[in-house]
Amino acid sequence: MTAQAKLVCRNVWKVFGSGAADFRNLAGPAPTLESLSRAGLIGAVRDVNLEVRTGEIFVIMGLSGSGKSTLVRCLSRLVEPTAGEILFNGENLLAASDARMIEIRRHQMGMVFQHFALLPHLSVLANVAFPLEVQGVTRAEREARAAKMIELVGLAGKERFLPRELSGGQQQRVGIARSLAVEPELWFLDEPFSALDPLIRREMQDEFIRLQSVLKKTIVFITHDFDEAIRLADKIAIMKDGEIVQAGTPEDIVLSPATPYVAEFTRNVPKAKVVKVASIMRPGGDAAAGPAVSAALTVAAAAPLFAAGMASLNVVDPAGATVGRLNRADVVDLMMSG
Ligand SMILES: Nc1ncnc2c1ncn2[C@@H]1O[C@H](COP(=O)(O)OP(=O)(O)OP(=O)(O)O)[C@@H](O)[C@H]1O
Ligand SMILES: [Mg+2]
Repeated sequence: MTAQAKLVCRNVWKVFGSGAADFRNLAGPAPTLESLSRAGLIGAVRDVNLEVRTGEIFVIMGLSGSGKSTLVRCLSRLVEPTAGEILFNGENLLAASDARMIEIRRHQMGMVFQHFALLPHLSVLANVAFPLEVQGVTRAEREARAAKMIELVGLAGKERFLPRELSGGQQQRVGIARSLAVEPELWFLDEPFSALDPLIRREMQDEFIRLQSVLKKTIVFITHDFDEAIRLADKIAIMKDGEIVQAGTPEDIVLSPATPYVAEFTRNVPKAKVVKVASIMRPGGDAAAGPAVSAALTVAAAAPLFAAGMASLNVVDPAGATVGRLNRADVVDLMMSG
């Protein structure tokens, strides 16, 4: 476990069905989907390992039924894992008492669900303040903090509205404000934007990126939309049939999909929008030649910097030091490859 690891998950299983606890006796050390299903069991999460680092957005992505929600619920023990180990700040959650888990969930974890799950008879303000009320925070303080969160998500002025008086996107903003009210260290979002129409969804993603640039939370974000994953993720883990089939940066996944299932998701992604200059630059930059381009830019963002006839650009790191050169021919190749 590295120093920055906020959450580590080792060999986590969730098996549903009667006698699930004994699933390991079925077929030796690693029961397959088939051996589980022959025994009348469902392997919703199978032998999952992952590490979420402090301050990163870790996206779990996969088709419907691949086990994403079950996995994320296991991480906070809203669903009890059948086997494995979960470490939160180094603390073994599976050994924690119920009271300890409640405390961790109340004070250190935030959750946003796909269906907004607001309390219909409470105002926006009361909904956002609700988790603070559960914590026993005084009314004046919880309303002040709730008002701040409401402003943060762009709903100032709507404090007295009821959920049904808001649009879907606005309701989800309330859900986001509510989950942020306790200032969680670890923030779980399970398909928070899936119920929204595409334009609003895009707007919420931008909003989310803006929020994260201010809040710098450690986030586990679930989606079945690969474009959304690429826009938001520092790391992506792709699930199929309860297993993580590949985990890596968006670049890793787009450039070298591990299986045909992963390749299917990446097929229509324009590589230049994901791949960074650092990945295709060549050694030997020339600080004297032409304009400089940051190694951290995507190739698509760097491409317009080539003036007519210019064969390469000087690549620099954040401190401005030359780290390589970007060849026009390599940019064109990448753009043509999809
Ligand atoms: N309480 C349960 N009892 C039995 N099976 C369950 C239970 N909860 C989930 N499952 C099964 O576990 C599998 C994974 O479900 P899960 O909800 O984690 O998928 P998901 O990836 O979140 O899908 P979606 O994108 O549709 O939300 C499915 O086959 C589902 O039927
Ligand atoms: Mg789900």
